[in-house]
Parts: sequence; C-alpha cells; structure tokens
Amino acid sequence: MPNSITSWPAVTIQPARNLSGSLRLPGDKSISHRYAMLGALAEGVTELENFSSGADCASTLSCVRALGCAVERQGGKVSVQGRGGALGEPERPLDCGNSGSSMRMLAGILAGQNFASVLTGDESLSRRPMQRVATPLQKMGATITGAEGCRPPLHIQGARLRAIEYHMPVASAQVKSALLFAGLLAEGETAVQEPVRTRDHGELALRAFGAQVNRGANRCSIIGGQKLRAIRATLPGDISSAAFFLCAAAIVPDSNLLVDDVLLNPTRAAILDLLIAMGMRIAVLNLEENHGELVGTVQARHGAGLGGARIAGAQAAALIDELPVLAAIAPYTRDGIEIRDARELRVKESDRIAAMAENLRALGARVEVRDDGLLIPGQQRLHGAEVESFGDHRIAMASAVAALGAGGEVHIRNAGVVDISYPGFFDTLQALLQR
Ligand code: S3P
Repeated sequence: MPNSITSWPAVTIQPARNLSGSLRLPGDKSISHRYAMLGALAEGVTELENFSSGADCASTLSCVRALGCAVERQGGKVSVQGRGGALGEPERPLDCGNSGSSMRMLAGILAGQNFASVLTGDESLSRRPMQRVATPLQKMGATITGAEGCRPPLHIQGARLRAIEYHMPVASAQVKSALLFAGLLAEGETAVQEPVRTRDHGELALRAFGAQVNRGANRCSIIGGQKLRAIRATLPGDISSAAFFLCAAAIVPDSNLLVDDVLLNPTRAAILDLLIAMGMRIAVLNLEENHGELVGTVQARHGAGLGGARIAGAQAAALIDELPVLAAIAPYTRDGIEIRDARELRVKESDRIAAMAENLRALGARVEVRDDGLLIPGQQRLHGAEVESFGDHRIAMASAVAALGAGGEVHIRNAGVVDISYPGFFDTLQALLQR
C-alpha cells in the first residue's frame, strides 16, 4: 500500500448524459471488518462470501493472520480459523494501512489479550485520533500509549480487563464496537452509552456469532466471558459505496439504476430517506434479513427536480460517510445543501470539509466553509478542472460524481485511492454511463 498521496493513478471523467443499469457492490466494509475480527475470536471456521474487496478489509485480514489465525481468501470468499478468544502474540507491529476501523476495533480486542502488541498505519492513519479508544480501554485496565496526542502507532499491553460503564463523548461506531469487543473479554458487564445513535453492526455481529448483547435507546451492554461460534455468511453490498451511484443518478437526467443485494440496515440507510425527501424516486424491493442485517434491492430513478437539504445533528452522524458525495451533488440541486455538526469529517482519511470545498471551488462552485460543515448553494454551473483525491477514497469517488454534472472534463489526481474501499469503482461507473 503506497504511503504517499502522490502514488495513485489519475482518472479523467467526462460529463454524463445518462446512468443506467444494474449493479452489485462488494461486501459492506463495516461488516467485513467485524465478521473477520469476530471470526478470529470464535470457535470454528468462519466462512464469508462477498467479503469487501477493499484494501482496508485486506488490512484487517492480514492483522488477523498475524494474530495466529489461518485465513484463506479466493476473491470474495474468505475463511477465518478462529482461536476461541485467545489470539497469538504477533511477531511484528500490526499494519492497519489506511484503515481507522482496523486500528480502533483491533485495539479493543488486543486490550484483552495477555501479550503486548503494536498497531501502525500509513501516513493518513498516523494523523488520526486514537485517544477516543485508548481512554476507555485504559479504564478497563489495558496499558495503551501512542505518539503525541495519542496518534498511531499504538502500543498496547493487554490485561485481564474489568467491565466499565462508558459514556462516549464522541459519536463513533468504531469506538462502540471496540468497547463491546473488549467487553466480551472482560470480567463483568460492560455498557456503552452513545451521544447519538451510530451504526449498530458491532452489536448485530456479536449476536450473529452467538453472544448476547443487551440494547436500549443509545445504550448497549455485554457480559464478558461469552463464547462465540463461527458463522457462514454472504455479505450484503456496501451501501456507502452504492451512495456514489445513487447520488450520480440523482443529478444525471433519465437515470435508472437497480442496486442488488445492498445493505439496508436502518442505521446506514439514511441516504435513501434523504434522496427521497429531495425528490428522487426510490423503491426498495425484496427486503430480507441476514444475520440480523437487512438486505434488499434498490431501484433509483432520477426525479423531476432535486430539492435541497439541511443536514445536522443525529442526521449528520447517520450520513457521515455519505456527506462528501452529498456535497458533490449540492451545486446541482435547486435549493443547495447545508451540512452542520459534522466536525468529525475533519479527522477522517483526509479533512473532508476542506477537501470537498477545494475541489468544488476548482470546478467553479461557490462554497462556504464552516468549522463543522459546508454551505453549498444550488443552481450552480460547474466547469472542467483538475482536482485532487487528497489520498482519500471517498473524496476521489465524490469528485467523480461532481464531475458527471460539470460542463467539461475533470481530471482527478490520485484517483486510484478508490481501491481502499472499492477497487473497480471507475470501471463500474463507466459501464453505467451511456453518453
Ligand atoms: C465506521 C464508522 C464510522 C465511519 C467509518 C466506518 C464503522 O466512523 O466513518 O467509515 O465501521 O464503524 P466512526 O465510528 O469513527 O464515526
């Protein structure tokens, strides 16, 4: 995995007239990480199909392997031989690459092991805050130190953990999952209270592997010492990847998309409600449940006109990974889009507020930047330009969507970084575009 943002191939996007066809997405990234980690802690062999093809989930698999689990992979098929709670001491630092999810959630598991380990990452991950996960894990009894400001690398000395009741100051599903995973290995009942509801894949995955997790409004808890058993699962398509195509269809006239077998977990599907409220015609077909996760087919058609939106509070947290692409379509809406309460965007793989503002301005858009968001007026005309991915997969894909509605060609530098979550994104996009 290249460390520098200058090492990915560039891509050029032409303006689009139509986006049609059906697609199926690589497995959901959030669920892939969690199933691989819980597979490592379970008894038996976990067999997964349609595992995420992104480099982030490959980082989790290589860490799991370094922790003594046999991992086999053939394309989307992955098997993990579990070790029943006690992992093997790694010989080297565990490289999480670009993946904050790998680092934060593995920290929860490593805190409860009887050995010392080190978690490292690439240049972008090395800038991201880890105090949010270190503080509660220290309260549970682990020793965790990081570089200045608790940035990676993280040195973790595992311990016999004790349960805590923790009120998370930051809304973070990664931290919640890390604490539940640590809670599984702790003595007593660990409870996590979150300021707003975040994605619940950690809770659902623990249940899928046979653990009992108690849930109330924005609070969940787990009793330590429960055994996990291996599962077989086919992972639903990643709705955060689908969001790029749905938003593209929202701005390209006459578009008609069918997205098969996509994750529709209510804590992740806010993008559908928002696009419907903005005027897009969306229908959900064949809704099913798979290991507690809702999965279905989404049909999305371009509506008569795309209104605007104000996204704030709990809605901003629910749409956190979709905000860059919502910013990308904002100039093409009638009333514009305002995003607030999204300060977390500043500490993602890049500063996503600054990155989207810079790229949209390069395309000729008017954008107002706030500490915690963006205000982007509607009814704007954008032109061709050269923009930068900032080494951030979602910025590369969001910029490609903005480019579809521009008046000229858009060159995206370091666009190949899409491989972090969605290798093949540009090929799929080309296949759906009919000029
Ligand atoms: C994720 C949670 C979100 C999200 C990230 C994946 C997860 O991060 O932005 O892409 O799988 O739990 P935070 O939990 O830090 O908000």
